[in-house]
Amino acid sequence: MSFLEELNRRRTFGIVSHPDAGKTTLTEKLLLFGGAIQVAGAVKSNKIKKSATSDFMEIERQRGISVATSVMAFEYRGVKVNILDTPGHQDFAEDTFRTLTAVDSVIVVIDVAKGVETQTEKLVKVCRMRKTPIIVFINKLDREGKDGFDLLDEIEEKLGLNVRPMSWPVGMGQRFKGVYSMYEKKLVLFRPHSKQDDEDMVEITDLSTTKLEELVGEEAAAELRDEVNMIEEVYPEFVVQDYLDGEISPVFFGSAINNFGVRELLDCFIDIAPGPLARITEERTVGPKEDKFAGFVFKIHANMDPKHRDRIAFLRICSGTFQRNTNYLHVRQNKKIKFSNPTSFMAAKKTVVDEAYPGDVIGLYDSGNFKIGDSLTEGEILHFKGIPSFSPEQFRYVNNTNPLKAKQLAKGLSQLMDEGVAQLFTKEFDGRKIIGTVGALQFDVIQYRLEHEYGASCSYEPVNLHKACWVEANDDKSLKEFLSKRKRDIAKDKDGHLVFLAESAWTLKMAQDNFPDIQFHFQSEF
Ligand code: G4P
Repeated sequence: MSFLEELNRRRTFGIVSHPDAGKTTLTEKLLLFGGAIQVAGAVKSNKIKKSATSDFMEIERQRGISVATSVMAFEYRGVKVNILDTPGHQDFAEDTFRTLTAVDSVIVVIDVAKGVETQTEKLVKVCRMRKTPIIVFINKLDREGKDGFDLLDEIEEKLGLNVRPMSWPVGMGQRFKGVYSMYEKKLVLFRPHSKQDDEDMVEITDLSTTKLEELVGEEAAAELRDEVNMIEEVYPEFVVQDYLDGEISPVFFGSAINNFGVRELLDCFIDIAPGPLARITEERTVGPKEDKFAGFVFKIHANMDPKHRDRIAFLRICSGTFQRNTNYLHVRQNKKIKFSNPTSFMAAKKTVVDEAYPGDVIGLYDSGNFKIGDSLTEGEILHFKGIPSFSPEQFRYVNNTNPLKAKQLAKGLSQLMDEGVAQLFTKEFDGRKIIGTVGALQFDVIQYRLEHEYGASCSYEPVNLHKACWVEANDDKSLKEFLSKRKRDIAKDKDGHLVFLAESAWTLKMAQDNFPDIQFHFQSEF
């Protein structure tokens, strides 16, 4: 197969949802269609159970699962589909934001009864900022839920998406009879847990046919006709380009656990979802068809076995062909590296790959060379954009509790920060170190892993902080003045960038008012 054929047959996407909406179930059903797994239940849920905060083994177990589910690839209708896993748990939101930089489109799963939930809102906001094409799947139609039209309104309102239903449910819960696919002009009849073979599908090009009454009964038939009419009147016609531009989101209804509506979703996804898209770097835009290889690391996973300290860096290929045992430039370190065992992932199976193409994600064994955001090229200096750190929500001083293990602590902290577990700020004034995280769970993870993987121990001390903002000024003089006046509140992040630590929303506002020449940024990339 030629390079262009390989490129054009790739679809790399992420499924985002609030926990419990059905992301894991849908992923599993998609993998079953693709033949990547044979039995239901093969994809373990990577959910952090509610008790996890104090249960370290649970966190470790989840970490083990999340290596296996980071990338799941399968083939369907000649297309290579790569699903990138996005943790739903809010404490790992940053992980999800970073993974979203490596996808070309997303499927958003919404629970029909719960409607749009907070985590979905946050994640969709990031996708919209980047104009990532979005397909919506409304799940759990086998249960009673919200009215279809109300849900569409809620999606438009809360997620800011323009929607276009591509299928429409016939009833719901106990009365759920099936889904009419406006995309394929087919009525798909619901049979719980069916394999959904062709007998369940009836082609209905014209909804006025009396066949409809025979299939779903008089009441449901009349209702469906009315509703479909209304959709045709109210919603604009679906134009694929509008979806690709992130302007409109097609909506599907179904029930993942019953494997219902999933094939329709997948078929449409294969037809319309974008292949590998261009990526922006500080230097220029990198197009997928370029013949020189370039890619970036969006996720790092430490080995679960403390005896083997190596890690897996997940690299998204953006252009050209990646080849095994070939020297590539590690741009940040300005050195050449080659990889003898790059791995690809087909569901839970890892295999060594000789070649990989744009859209693919490969795992590179790493002994500490990589950090998130690093690029690998054939020689060109490229810095991929869109992988920022966000201002953390929670802060604590970190203290060394074993003076003999200071080196191990420093190394452990540094490597955990490279993995993106949390952020480390060093205060300029007294050299004290502060860890900032998105959720409380990470503090436990860090302490546990420092002890088990690096033999270091630390304790935490509360610190009263509201936000960490990256600061810059147009001129040196203003910056110097600000730094000297606020020296107790200044720290450096891991890359040496200046950060202002604001104790409260009020101190931040005061600083912004008093130093108008200083720009305060809430993310590290600006
Ligand atoms: P998540 O990854 O988004 O967190 O959700 P997950 O797939 O784990 O699904 C959450 C719960 O919703 C699971 O039940 C799952 O079986 C159920 N579910 C998924 N799709 C459907 C559907 O179409 N209809 C109905 N009625 N339920 C659905 P659970 O009891 O939490 O877990 P389990 O014990 O069944 O695994």
